[in-house]
Amino acid sequence: MLNSLRSSIHPWAIQKLGRDWLEYLASNTMNVVTEKLDPFIWSYDCKAKILAVRQETADTKTFVLLPNQHFKQPLPGQHIELTIDPENSGKTESRCYSLSEIDGDTVSITVKHNREGKVSSWLHDRAKPGMVLNISSPRGRFVYRDQKKLLFICAGAGITPCFSILKALDNRPNRPDIAFYYRSRTPDDTIFKKQLDQTLSGSGVDISYSRYTDAGSSYLPSQLLEAYPDLKERDIYLCGPEPFKHDVLAYLESIEYNMNKLEIEHFVRTNSGIEQSRQLNEDVTVFLKSRNISFVIAAKDCDKTLLEAAEKNGIQLEHGCRSGMCGTCRTILISGQVSGNQLGKSIYPCTAYPASTQVVLE
Ligand code: FES
Repeated sequence: MLNSLRSSIHPWAIQKLGRDWLEYLASNTMNVVTEKLDPFIWSYDCKAKILAVRQETADTKTFVLLPNQHFKQPLPGQHIELTIDPENSGKTESRCYSLSEIDGDTVSITVKHNREGKVSSWLHDRAKPGMVLNISSPRGRFVYRDQKKLLFICAGAGITPCFSILKALDNRPNRPDIAFYYRSRTPDDTIFKKQLDQTLSGSGVDISYSRYTDAGSSYLPSQLLEAYPDLKERDIYLCGPEPFKHDVLAYLESIEYNMNKLEIEHFVRTNSGIEQSRQLNEDVTVFLKSRNISFVIAAKDCDKTLLEAAEKNGIQLEHGCRSGMCGTCRTILISGQVSGNQLGKSIYPCTAYPASTQVVLE
């Protein structure tokens, strides 16, 4: 009874009062009684209630979430970090998921079931409408920046942030020139196929099937310049499984695409660069080309990330999560070598380490 009352009150309260007012009211009435009465509203944490679960394909579901008052307004293409305690053991697991849709006060995440993945398995097997999840506020720089010509290149569940930007732009009167390339296994595995075919205008959307050749675009990721002759004029948004991103990046490098026009969605936690960096017994000089400044990392500090080493030298680099998850610190490696969090020429200084004595970054 209390739960169903809350279920109808929460959307109403967020819609009528707005998140800012609700935050003001909740923080001024927070006490042991209100916290127990309704821990979704009377909470210091950012939380979201599952409003609906929708099957998209055989192994992919969309979860429609109503975040509480601590959630900041998201931008299409951003992601949230979701934290659960899958075994109720006190040991939490966190994963980042792109927002596939932003609709008024609700947001959606669309999650492919990875059988070995604790969080996606929990979401697919146990998450139900009415449950409350711990989430972060929206993050990330994989967002539209008023460019005139775009090309989205995505595969599998990597369609989610691209779809959310596409959907937002599709409603605009001054819609930019959009091309959309999506690689999926088969028509049945194609997430948002109906919306791509019907809801959106459809123009400029090419779906390429890796295991089904009778329909869709016949272009492979290695033929993108043939598919989009003006590709080099377009700003590219790339998202998909790691091997797909590596292939596309190698291809873009081979055609000398300007990597400064590329945005990549990349959620990887890694410490794998530390061992390699410790083998360096010399000082490292790092040159930041766009700022025309350089700094030296002493040999004893080569186990520090590039971000930490820059800060130690009094140089501030743009960053967010400091753990390789948000993409905010991404920059281009122009020459030299780094280890750790690297995707083609894109590197993430918060989780990348020097691996040669000269490193030049954009
Ligand atoms: S990826 Fe978040 S700060 Fe580097």
